[in-house]
Amino acid sequence: MYRSLKHTLMASLLGASLVVAITASASEKYNVGKTATPEEIAGWDIDIRPDGKGLPIGQGSVEDGEVLYEQICAACHGLFGEGEGRWPVLAGGKGTLKDARPTKTVGSYWPYASTLYDYIRRAMPFTAPRSLTDEQTYQLTAYVLYLNELVDDDFVLTHENLAQIEMPNKDGFFIDPRPDVKNIRCMQACDDPKTMTIEGTLKGITPVGHFIEGADAPAASHEGQQDLEREKAQARQAALSGEEVQSEQDAVSVSFSDKALAGKETFENACKVCHGSGIAGSPKLGDHEAWAPRVKQDMSVLVGHAINGFAGTFGIMPPKGGRVDLSDQQVEEAVNYMVESSK
Ligand code: HEC
Ligand code: HEC
Repeated sequence: MYRSLKHTLMASLLGASLVVAITASASEKYNVGKTATPEEIAGWDIDIRPDGKGLPIGQGSVEDGEVLYEQICAACHGLFGEGEGRWPVLAGGKGTLKDARPTKTVGSYWPYASTLYDYIRRAMPFTAPRSLTDEQTYQLTAYVLYLNELVDDDFVLTHENLAQIEMPNKDGFFIDPRPDVKNIRCMQACDDPKTMTIEGTLKGITPVGHFIEGADAPAASHEGQQDLEREKAQARQAALSGEEVQSEQDAVSVSFSDKALAGKETFENACKVCHGSGIAGSPKLGDHEAWAPRVKQDMSVLVGHAINGFAGTFGIMPPKGGRVDLSDQQVEEAVNYMVESSK
């Protein structure tokens, strides 16, 4: 899912710069696009350099970061940054980079603290990127640094001291010395682009399951994932050519209330990331057994748990699934959708 998000972002970025280029050079001729306003440019121009350039003025403490982290990050990354299930580990791993299986974390691997601020602000929480304020980002950055034992518990991170933080692996990066990575632009008798391929994943190494749109559950291996996708493609093909195909879900016909129907979209956007496949201990959509004991509770209890979050015996349900921008009503509708899908 994240991959395709990246692609969409990339495409719109390219689109945006194309529009800007056209406007600058030939707007009279083609009448396409408009000049980007300073506000629009500022919206994209959010990168932060290792020397701290680009940081907004502000600050945040480890102490405040702890509260926020536990609310909206720990469900995936673990209370101590150890990573829940297959979610990424954020802390530890110091001195493992030369091991056969290195643990690459912010503390063991990243060269600059600025990247941490940039990354959290840009991409986290996973389900709601760019939803954090600058101050919250300072708090969370401070706390992740603390989890890596790079700052003390009374530390306050500011736009002035961030660039001074020395990351343990700062000298571990160098310009690739291999000659074949120094590309020389070809001007004549060049390779035919049709004969070139791009390998985006390393077979057997890159876990691709997370990233395939609509994948039910990540397969353990590349081959496994490809088999899954092949089966689905066949089912789609069969459906197109009019053959009867019944997937497990179609077999049970469910009629939804209006409230539940209204919640489908919220579910897709904000809840499916966990409840779609039942990761992190969440009850999977449509899994009657997992839902039956929960549905026995009053609906208001379920909705309350979804809105305010709760820690159960299986895992942590973050408030509104980490999407604090959702209204209580939207969350309630999504719960109705989940419950009615799982009866
Ligand atoms: C729903 C699960 C989820 C939640 C909640 C979440 N993250 Fe993440 N986080 C991820 C995933 C998945 C990645 C890896 C994304 C990728 O590589 O494309 C990631 C990556 C990261 C990384 C980079 C790790 C590395 O070494 O590459 C940091 C730092 C991070 N998250 C911090 C946070 C913080 C801070 C929060 C709370 C505001 C948060 N995350 C909430 C799932 C989550
Ligand atoms: C980061 C993963 C994650 C996301 C995202 C998420 N949930 Fe959950 N949810 C959980 C987990 C884990 C549980 C089970 C906790 C337990 O019982 O131990 C849960 C449980 C629930 C329950 C059952 C509560 C109960 O009392 O048994 C409801 C209802 C629920 N979630 C609704 C939602 C809704 C609505 C959304 C989207 C707005 C959502 N969840 C998004 C992880 C998530």
